[in-house]
Formats: sequence, structure tokens, C-alpha cells
Amino acid sequence: MIRTMEKTTALSVIMMPRDANVLGTIFGGIILSYIDQAGFVEARRNGIHRWVTASMDKVDFEKPVYVGDVVRFITKTAKTGRTSVGIEVVVEAERFNSGNRVVVTTATLTMVSVDEHGKSIPFDSPSTFQQDEI
Ligand SMILES: CC(C)(COP(=O)(O)OP(=O)(O)OC[C@H]1O[C@@H](n2cnc3c(N)ncnc32)[C@H](O)[C@@H]1OP(=O)(O)O)[C@@H](O)C(=O)NCCC(=O)NCCS
Repeated sequence: MIRTMEKTTALSVIMMPRDANVLGTIFGGIILSYIDQAGFVEARRNGIHRWVTASMDKVDFEKPVYVGDVVRFITKTAKTGRTSVGIEVVVEAERFNSGNRVVVTTATLTMVSVDEHGKSIPFDSPSTFQQDEI
């Protein structure tokens, strides 16, 4: 089982015109959606389970994101409980017109491992997925 307390890039995406508001900057909700996905990718490193987002404790949108920026969602498992993990997400934009990298958003979230009925289970327990090969 892979467990990380180190920062890794969970996702990299290019922001598209469909993601922008009338000002030409990216909707906060788009960034939130990717933060959620990045949280799942990080959580899964702690166990191959169904993971659900229990909370997004704090999200700070520090700088705008622009169409064309390459945006990286850098994650770290910051703390572990019994069934939950606390994840820090740093969102970094590589500007489309300069290549400069800036931190645009930070967030912390709690992900909980659940069984097939949605009941929380210790994340270090065996996977409840069917182990059949696909
Ligand atoms: C997350 C969820 C499984 C927790 O259910 P629950 O009955 O409270 O479970 P438990 O009491 O066993 O708590 C499980 C763990 O979650 C943590 N937890 C529960 N609610 C939490 C919250 N709001 N914020 C942070 N942690 C939370 C508990 O501290 C516990 O952590 P630990 O085991 O590491 O000590 C349940 O609330 C749920 O299914 N929520 C919906 C998740 C979802 O659909 N997310 C997507 C949004 S649409």
C-alpha cells in the first residue's frame, strides 16, 4: 500500500474558455471541483477504497486563474485518523503567457473511506472492492 506524507501533483489541467466567467477568469466552482478530485487521488494513496469528501474546511482563493493557465493540484496527506485522512491541497497556476508559477488557491479537506453501503471503515483495512481482474 502506498502512503504518502509528501507533496505530489495529483492533477494537472489546462483551463478552457468554458471554465471562465464573463471577466475571463476561472469560476471558483471549477477549481473546487478539481480540488475535490485531487483530494480523492491523494486519499486513494492511503487505501484502495471508496472515498467520500466529508468536509472542505477552508478554501482561500488568493489569486485569479486565467484561460490557458496550466493548473496543478499539489496534495499532501497532512493527518490521518481512523477512517479519515486530512489533505492539504495547494493549487498552482503556470501562467499561459509567461510560464510563471504562482500559488492561486489553498484548501484543506477531510476524506473518509466507506464500504459499499457508505459506512465509514478504517482506511488501513483491506479493500472492500471485488478483487476480480477487469
Ligand atoms: C462522511 C460520512 C461517511 C461520515 O459519516 P459518519 O456517520 O459521520 O461517520 P463516522 O461518525 O463513523 O465518522 C467517520 C470519520 O469521519 C469524520 N467526519 C465525519 N464528519 C466530518 C466532517 N463534517 N468533517 C470532518 N470530519 C468528519 C469523523 O471524525 C471520523 O473520522 P475518524 O474515523 O478518522 O476519527 C457521511 O457524513 C457521508 O456519507 N457524507 C456524504 C459524503 C459525500 O457524499 N460527499 C460528497 C459531497 S456531495
